Amino acid sequence: MNKDAELGTVYLVGAGPGDPDLLTVKAMNLLSRCDAIVYDSLIPQELLDFVPKTCVRHFVGKRRGHHSVPQFKTNNLLFEMAQSHSCVVRLKGGDPFLFGRGAEEAAFLNKKGVTVQIVPGITAGIAVPAYLGIPVTHRLAGSSITFVTGHEGIDKRRPSVNWRALAKASDGLVIYMGVHNLDYIVRELIAGGLASDTPSVVIQQGTVIGQRYIKAKLMELVNEVNRLEFITPSVIVIGSVVNFQLIDCAPSPANVTMPISF
Ligand SMILES: C[S@@+](CC[C@H](N)C(=O)[O-])C[C@H]1O[C@@H](n2cnc3c(N)ncnc32)[C@H](O)[C@@H]1O
Repeated sequence: MNKDAELGTVYLVGAGPGDPDLLTVKAMNLLSRCDAIVYDSLIPQELLDFVPKTCVRHFVGKRRGHHSVPQFKTNNLLFEMAQSHSCVVRLKGGDPFLFGRGAEEAAFLNKKGVTVQIVPGITAGIAVPAYLGIPVTHRLAGSSITFVTGHEGIDKRRPSVNWRALAKASDGLVIYMGVHNLDYIVRELIAGGLASDTPSVVIQQGTVIGQRYIKAKLMELVNEVNRLEFITPSVIVIGSVVNFQLIDCAPSPANVTMPISF
């Protein structure tokens, strides 16, 4: 039962990292019956094909060469959708609570009296390396892995990542949104004591058409990324887990395209 009978329910749904086969059954059920959908950039068109034709669609992601829609506008749009539709899907790439502002949107809607339900998704940080047969943990590669953003907040309200401390504290790193800042990240990690020959990989457009990757020693990673012009979306994995790649176990990327951004 909704808190306010006049308001619809907003489902905060994780779409997974691109391959539509990685959508959860719960997410698929919601997509096939929602009457409004608000979605981000890293959503392949094929996922939207599951949505009823009558469903109202709003794109709030970043388009090439444009800024993303400000968060307050997305929040207000979601509230507006909840006022006029009973089943609203807020579709986000990967998992909605991992570097996706899902918690901020849920809290905003909650305050307004809207019922919000979370539908977790498969995060890129696990699935994208897995599509190359790279496990994010291995007993022989240590006991810890850290998921970290490489994107420093523009508004500087968030504390910045202490890369030097992470160099010592975690056996492996999975970095989201890190390609633009890679030069700085690598310099800080090495300054913090991480061996410059630590195995590393950058994977662009994982799980879908265009998937490609570079494996290199940490100190060579930036040159390779620049030389081969790697762009967003990319996941970076740093640590000896990269050496445990099982390429023969890697699934084939799905035959769908993912919007890329610059
Ligand atoms: C705003 S974060 C959202 C992460 C998402 N909530 C998740 O759980 O995967 C977007 C970043 O996720 C990573 N990413 C998402 N999908 C990806 C893909 N298919 N291939 C490579 N990186 C991906 C990239 O680092 C991208 O810049």
